[in-house]
Amino acid sequence: MVELAREKARNMGVDANILLADARSFRLPKPFDVVTCLFGTLGYLHEDDEVESFFRNTFNNLRDGGLFIFDFPSFEFFKTHGVKPSVLEGEKDDLKSIRVSLPKFNLETRFLTLLFKCIIYKDRELIDLFEETHELRTFDSLEIQSFLEESSFHVVEFLEAGESVYVTVVARKLEASPD
Ligand SMILES: C[S@@+](CC[C@H](N)C(=O)[O-])C[C@H]1O[C@@H](n2cnc3c(N)ncnc32)[C@H](O)[C@@H]1O
Repeated sequence: MVELAREKARNMGVDANILLADARSFRLPKPFDVVTCLFGTLGYLHEDDEVESFFRNTFNNLRDGGLFIFDFPSFEFFKTHGVKPSVLEGEKDDLKSIRVSLPKFNLETRFLTLLFKCIIYKDRELIDLFEETHELRTFDSLEIQSFLEESSFHVVEFLEAGESVYVTVVARKLEASPD
């Protein structure tokens, strides 16, 4: 994946430094203006101390006043709407993929379990068939607000694009107060 991203950047003439690291502990050589973390990645941090490490680490990699933009799987969404199976299809050149998603949501643990069954065809011939299970923690806005405040972030906005499985958050690293 990382090599593919580097190749894409090269082909587009984009000068990007693409690194692979753990969100809970990576350290960059200089602070950045913005950190983003999207498409449900927060759900892979199952324990409170993992979320706290990630937020604290993000704080340390941002300049004062910098923005942290991320999303999280929404407990409210799954509580209200439940889950249902879905199918996602993709095609590129002579390849075709089909992903059948069989989700379960546990109201007590607040975890979403996604079983993916994936089928890959090349020239209409079956070349791969595999399964993956993803366990995602869901969150509510109050929990997220409290994690952010503990890490000295100020919440700018919670963005809920209508009926979305993810809630997007914009938070700001508070300016260091002048001595
Ligand atoms: C649902 S995917 C999100 C895709 C990605 N954000 C994108 O824009 O394409 C979740 C990703 O989070 C990564 N991930 C899970 N735990 C992580 C951690 N502690 N540090 C960094 N990445 C992590 C997984 O490897 C996976 O690639």
